[in-house]
Amino acid sequence: MLFGVCVPTIHNVKVHAEVVKGINGLDKFVLREARGSSAEIYLYGAHVTSWKNACGEELLLLGSKAIFEPPKPIRGGIPICFPQFSNHGPLDSHGFARNRVWSIDSNPPPFPTSSASKTFVDLILKPSEDDLKIWPNRFEFRLRIALGPGGELTMTSRIRNTNTDGKPFTFTFAYHTYYSVSNISEVRVEGLKTLNYLDNLQNETRITEQRNAITFQSEVDRIYLSTPTNISVLDNGKNRTYVIHKDGLPDTVLWNPWAKAVADLGVDDYKHMVCVEAAAVEKPITLNPGEDWRGSQEISTVPSSPCSGLPLPRKVLGN
Ligand SMILES: *[C@@H]1O[C@H](CO)[C@@H](O)[C@H](O)[C@H]1NC(C)=O
Ligand SMILES: *[C@@H]1O[C@H](CO)[C@@H](O)[C@H](O)[C@H]1NC(C)=O
Ligand SMILES: *[C@@H]1O[C@H](CO)[C@@H](O)[C@H](O)[C@H]1NC(C)=O
Ligand SMILES: *[C@@H]1O[C@H](CO)[C@@H](O)[C@H](O)[C@H]1NC(C)=O
Repeated sequence: MLFGVCVPTIHNVKVHAEVVKGINGLDKFVLREARGSSAEIYLYGAHVTSWKNACGEELLLLGSKAIFEPPKPIRGGIPICFPQFSNHGPLDSHGFARNRVWSIDSNPPPFPTSSASKTFVDLILKPSEDDLKIWPNRFEFRLRIALGPGGELTMTSRIRNTNTDGKPFTFTFAYHTYYSVSNISEVRVEGLKTLNYLDNLQNETRITEQRNAITFQSEVDRIYLSTPTNISVLDNGKNRTYVIHKDGLPDTVLWNPWAKAVADLGVDDYKHMVCVEAAAVEKPITLNPGEDWRGSQEISTVPSSPCSGLPLPRKVLGN
């Protein structure tokens, strides 16, 4: 028996992906999996704005005042920070990938590992002439966003240096994921004990984490370094645990702005979100011409119980 967890019915719909018009006429992809989970991805920013489980519950927070007006980035969901995370470089915060219109990649190179999912979209971003003026590097950024049979959302980025002048380039990166939570004061993030982090609220002072679980009572803005591949976010109010599995991304950024004013967030949004970001920040990635880099995150949910003595978490829609 599963406790406190919706039991999805298998809908009689075909797995599919389609492009439709979203807010302000912007193109978006809708991915639907046969059991009912879904995701929405705007071509503007290759931005995941919605990820729902098989019961239709939203798992991401979209800013309650988010606006969909290029060139403003969309607040919430999963912005992609490339080629710069935050202010670690010469570009505007978080780089420009999140406010460019991506294209559908109709001929992606094969994936080295086989993916079970047939529900996915392949997108591509290449720099425009204007982009080359602010960041003088040619690249191909290929992104596959896939929805698996258990509702898990996988994002795989493949970035290639296509400079023709022989120059390497260096970048930082993050999947700036905003998880929806019932009450930030009751959220715990696990998997970071004994790790070092840079505290952005203390001029990036390096501190060692002592706690088993990170809880939130005020603003948090930290870059945890060399983190394990799996991090958990426990939301006991919803009996739900998010599991973040990452590859190629050594760091994990933790952010909640608390009551600080943030563009396009409503005053109460911070209570219902936590950003846990698979990232490469401390050690920027360098690519020589012709070289590829790959970084992915798979996010999924498992039921959890606030009480001890109950069964260990297991996959809601496990195989
Ligand atoms: C969470 O689980 C507990 C214990 O099984 C249950 O009493 C409660 O109603 C559940 N809450 C939700 C939101 O499902
Ligand atoms: C959130 O949790 C805190 C701490 O348990 C509690 O004081 C507060 O009332 C909760 N907020 C809501 C809206 O339930
Ligand atoms: C912050 O750290 C940098 C680099 O270590 C240093 O140059 C700067 O003076 C520090 N600023 C403050 C306000 O402590
Ligand atoms: C880490 O996450 C992956 C993908 O969700 C899962 O297959 C694997 O079992 C997890 N590993 C641990 C140690 O929890």
